[in-house]
Amino acid sequence: MKILLFALGLSNVALAHPSNLENFTTKPIYADLRDLRALEIPVLAAEETSRVGFAVVTPEMQLRIQERAHQVGKCGGFESLPEAPALVPYAETLQSLKRQTEKDQFYLKAPFQLVSVAASPAITAALGELSSSRLQADVQWLSSFPNRYDKGTSPNVAVLELKARIEQILQNAKMPYQVTLIDHKQTEQKSIRVHLEGSKNPQEIVVLGAHLDSINQAWWGNDEAPGADDNASGSSNLLDILRVVSQKTQPQRSLEFFWYAGEESGLLGSSEIAQAYKSANKTVVAVLQLDMTLFPGAGEMVLGSMTDFTSPWLRDYLKAANETYLHIQIVEDECGYGCSDHASWYRQGYPTLMPFEATMRTINSRMHSADDRVTPEMSFGHSMIYSKIGLIMAMDLANSNEKQPY
Ligand code: BES
Ligand code: ZN
Repeated sequence: MKILLFALGLSNVALAHPSNLENFTTKPIYADLRDLRALEIPVLAAEETSRVGFAVVTPEMQLRIQERAHQVGKCGGFESLPEAPALVPYAETLQSLKRQTEKDQFYLKAPFQLVSVAASPAITAALGELSSSRLQADVQWLSSFPNRYDKGTSPNVAVLELKARIEQILQNAKMPYQVTLIDHKQTEQKSIRVHLEGSKNPQEIVVLGAHLDSINQAWWGNDEAPGADDNASGSSNLLDILRVVSQKTQPQRSLEFFWYAGEESGLLGSSEIAQAYKSANKTVVAVLQLDMTLFPGAGEMVLGSMTDFTSPWLRDYLKAANETYLHIQIVEDECGYGCSDHASWYRQGYPTLMPFEATMRTINSRMHSADDRVTPEMSFGHSMIYSKIGLIMAMDLANSNEKQPY
């Protein structure tokens, strides 16, 4: 790889966060149409409503997109696709994105229902049971594996240990549950799902998810990828939510927790799962994505709420939950491309939410490197906000009839 970079004469290009260099070849991508056009990169298919373009890009083009993304305060700059260009179902995907975005824009212009979250003593008490010391222990444990890379030499070592930890947490569960390892076509790594069966409307599912894999993208680096913030943090938030909620009264709707495989290699696990749910016609009421919750880049009490590939209805739900329970500052921001697993669900037409540790400009710059570790700048108090959001969804939304009104 390094040789390839030098051969291309690109070794002097400054990259704050070089992306996917291990697969540094011509590849199909989705990216922000405005970026593609500004850089005069040929757009093979354009979706104007959601401003997403499909292109097949050379390594040189990838670097230019990344450079521009960093200049305008975005992260990686594009979403690379694992398939061969000719196999990408871009027409279908862009159509489905268009339909989703049009409905969301309609809601934004004329909100036909105000979302509210009523205060509940049971939820307040449960929020107090979340534990920052358990969160810390789990993040430290998950980030102690050399890496959790889906293309590494042992992609499932951490996965199997994580599954055992989940089963241990569920030993005291007060409701029926199922833990499943999910095999994938596009990666050897497996995803993990926990299903907690709903008591009244079990066919309606609330999904809480985080990616379990990690990656080292530094071109000078080795394979060490502790991924403490990205994403042992979100994975550990889910563990603590699961511990608390599984001891409570069985929720009316079903709750599903996902630890996704291969996110860093192109949302691999989540895209197969979301597709399978859509094909099976499953009703997913809401999808929460927790990806990077440990670095309070914009302040301890500031949360970034991503507006692309997420649903205004759920962003309103978050604002309502904030007024009732959290009392923090929410700043809306965008990734500019499908930057995490919520995009997989959004594309299939499911409502999504992605609360993020900070804003794009104040993101943890050590992500995707051997230095993504638990350091003094990390804050478990801050990360607790994200455990709380998940627990509120698990106890409030999963016990209501609220759904996206379209
Ligand atoms: N945690 C990052 C995504 C992220 C970055 C979210 C900055 C919010 C702000 C995630 O794990 C990641 O790196 N995703 C890839 C996506 C790609 C492989 C489809 C990326 O951003 O390059
Ligand atoms: Zn991540």
